Amino acid sequence: MIYDIVVYPDKRLKLVSETVGSFDEVLHALLDDMYETMIAKNGVGLAAIQIGVPKRVLIVNVPIESDEEGVDLQPRENTLEIINPVITYRSDEKIKFQEGCLSVPGFYEDVERYAMVTIAYQDRYGEQFVIEDDAFLAVALQHEIDHLDGKLFIEKLSYIKRKKFEKEWKKREK
Ligand code: CO
Repeated sequence: MIYDIVVYPDKRLKLVSETVGSFDEVLHALLDDMYETMIAKNGVGLAAIQIGVPKRVLIVNVPIESDEEGVDLQPRENTLEIINPVITYRSDEKIKFQEGCLSVPGFYEDVERYAMVTIAYQDRYGEQFVIEDDAFLAVALQHEIDHLDGKLFIEKLSYIKRKKFEKEWKKREK
């Protein structure tokens, strides 16, 4: 099922999501719906709160290639399903990427993140895993984990860039 995306400034985006305790059909249905929704909205990552579910669940699917029409491919089996993530290592080195967010549609800005992170998490069956990554995936994971703590990438912008965002957003809401 494809959900509507919760969009800024909806207060639900500020919620700290709850730890998942049951790795059951309810969780599996949520993950399946999140994948469907992310693909339908052309996202590369999605946190459960973005469809209104305050659970510590996120998915990331980095497009691998383009097909003949130039459309990015994000096969189901490439989806990283991450439950209850904890960042256990952050590099000293930082990295800057242009980020966007389905909950802040149409706005893109450079954000600084840790260049490399190690994350402990559980999969949909509750099994423990560790992922260590850099570059785009590390950035995407940090972005999604922020959602679980009620934070958006626009909060990481400099004062001037944040003002620019507020101005653009207001203009659009009219
Ligand atoms: Co986002």
